[in-house]
Amino acid sequence: MLPTKIAIDGPAASGKSTLAEKLAEYINYMYFDTGVMYRAVTWAALQRLGAVDDEAAVSELAEKVQIDVRPPSEKDGRKNDVFLDGMDVSWEIRTPEVNQDVSEVSTYQGVRRAMTEQQRRIGERGSMVMVGRDIGTVVLPDADLKIYLDASAEERAKRRYQELVGRDMKASYEEILLSVVRRDNIDSTRAIAPLRPADDAIIVDTDGKSIEDVFEEVKMLLK
Ligand code: DC
Repeated sequence: MLPTKIAIDGPAASGKSTLAEKLAEYINYMYFDTGVMYRAVTWAALQRLGAVDDEAAVSELAEKVQIDVRPPSEKDGRKNDVFLDGMDVSWEIRTPEVNQDVSEVSTYQGVRRAMTEQQRRIGERGSMVMVGRDIGTVVLPDADLKIYLDASAEERAKRRYQELVGRDMKASYEEILLSVVRRDNIDSTRAIAPLRPADDAIIVDTDGKSIEDVFEEVKMLLK
């Protein structure tokens, strides 16, 4: 029997979303990337408050906004449609400004409380591959399969660099590496729900492996 709830956690740019999306398609499950919710709150805070440093105000906003994540309606490279109070923000949440501030916002207790509650409710539906940093530890501790995807910071920076260059975008490997290390640091040292593998997670190291290699490895875990 297939696991009904699959949790995939790991650091930024470890290939979680690509793997999870492939896996979800393979077993016909819903794919849900929880990072988009923290990104949507960050974008809303930048729009409505002008900055993200007022923790109380950002947390209040997180309680109030309505975030909807649905299967992609357009074939423009998005993996989900993300709506914030009815507005499609699927691309707005991928801007450098949001990248810069999202780790900070995700350290806020009130923000995490609001997001975790919504994510649990969605996760309870089952037949779901849920991706994030704290899915196996906090959001769905009862998930039947927990995978922690890892890779060195250098490998992850290299992948992101190649992805950007592949899309004809300007990129600096050194800057990307610095940003990956900075986000790892914030994500894994925060007081609430820090990035770490659950005790019962299977750790998959992806250094030097292609997405196909990793997918084959993970497929074996379904049995
Ligand atoms: O996976 P991502 O880069 O889209 O995640 C954006 C940020 O949100 C990242 O800094 C970590 C945070 N996050 C989190 O704290 N908990 C989650 N379940 C998902 C993401």
